[in-house]
Amino acid sequence: EASQREQLLGLNRRVMEFYQEMLLKNPRGRGARSYLEKRGMDPEILRQFGIGFAPPGWDNLIGFLRKNRFSLSLAEKAGLIVPRKQQNGYYDRFRNRVIFPIRDVTGQVVAFGGRVMDEALPKYLNSPESPVYHKRSTLYGLHAARSACRSRGRVYIVEGYFDLLAMHQHGLTNSVATLGTSLTRDHIRRLSRAAGSGDKKAYLVFDSDAAGVNAAKRTIGAFLEEGMEAAVILLPPGHDPDSYLFDQGAEAFDRLAQKAPTLFGFLIENAVSAHGLALEGKVKIITEMAPVLAEIQDAVARSVYIQHLAETIGVDEAAVLEKVRQQQP
Ligand code: GTP
Ligand code: MN
Ligand code: MN
Ligand code: MN
Ligand code: MN
Repeated sequence: EASQREQLLGLNRRVMEFYQEMLLKNPRGRGARSYLEKRGMDPEILRQFGIGFAPPGWDNLIGFLRKNRFSLSLAEKAGLIVPRKQQNGYYDRFRNRVIFPIRDVTGQVVAFGGRVMDEALPKYLNSPESPVYHKRSTLYGLHAARSACRSRGRVYIVEGYFDLLAMHQHGLTNSVATLGTSLTRDHIRRLSRAAGSGDKKAYLVFDSDAAGVNAAKRTIGAFLEEGMEAAVILLPPGHDPDSYLFDQGAEAFDRLAQKAPTLFGFLIENAVSAHGLALEGKVKIITEMAPVLAEIQDAVARSVYIQHLAETIGVDEAAVLEKVRQQQP
C-alpha cells in the first residue's frame, strides 16, 4: 500500500500528463498552443517543464479521474478538484488555463499553476497548500536548475513562471522563481545547498516597480548565515525577465548581472533616492536600515555593514550603531 504522499505524487504526475496531452494533442488545445507560440515559447522548453492546458468546462479532469479510477477525495487533497457548496460532488479547480506543473527539488510534481489566456482575473491560479506542497519551501524550476547552480556557483531568482521559462530558453538555466511570494529562509537554505560548497552568489532580479524590495530587506541576514552573497539586478522600467530577454537578449542580461550591486548596497541606494541626503533624509535612512542591521547575527559582518552605511550617507558610525542597538531583539 503506497503512502498518502506517494499516492498524491502519482496522481499529480498522471494529471500533468493529462494536461500536457490536452495542450499538445487535443483540438481544444489550439488556442493555448497559439498563445504560447505568440509568447515565443520553444516547444522543447514546454516539453521539459511539462506545460499543459486545462480545457474550459467544470468536469474535464473529473472525467479523466473517474475513467482511470482515481479517488476523488485524493484529488481533493491534492487541490485539483473542489467540493461543490450547495450539492454533492466536485468541480475542476483549473479551467481554461495554461498549466504549469510545480516540482520539488527531486522532480516530483507537487502542485500546479494556471494562467488565463486573456485579461480575465485572477491572472494566475495556484494549487493550495497540501501534504506535498508547501509554498514557503518550494521554488519553481529548482529541479531543472540544480546542476547549473552547482557548476556556476550562482543562481538567479526571478518572480514568475514565464520569467523562469524565458531564463531557461535563453541559456540562463541556473534560475528559480518564487511565484510572487516573498523569499523565505527556507528558500535561501535550499538555494545555498543547490549552489554547492564553494563561493556562491544569488541574484535577486527585480522589476523596476520593485514591490519585492521591502521584502528583500529581511533576507540579508539569511543570505549571510547560509553563506551566500546576494546581489540585485534591477530591470529597466516596464520590463520583467521574460520581456527583457526576448527584447534585449541574454548578453544584455549578463551585462546587468556584471554590474549588479550587492543587496545591501542596493538597499542603501534605494533609501538614498527615496529620502535624499539632507538631515531628515539621513535620519529616515538610518531608521529604515537599523532593523535590517539588527537582524545580522554575525558581529563582524554587522559592523562592516554599519561602517558601509555610515560612510555612504556621511554620518558618524557611532550614531548608526546606537540606532541599531535600540532595536528590539
Ligand atoms: P505574465 O503576465 O504571464 O508575463 O505574468 P508575470 O509572471 O509577468 O506576472 P506578474 O509579474 O504580475 O506576477 C509574477 C508572478 O506572481 C506570477 O508569475 C505568478 O506566479 C504570481 N501571480 C501574479 N498574479 C497572480 C494572481 O493573480 N494570483 C496568484 N496566485 N499568483 C499571481
Ligand atoms: Mn503540511
Ligand atoms: Mn512580471
Ligand atoms: Mn511577465
Ligand atoms: Mn522609505
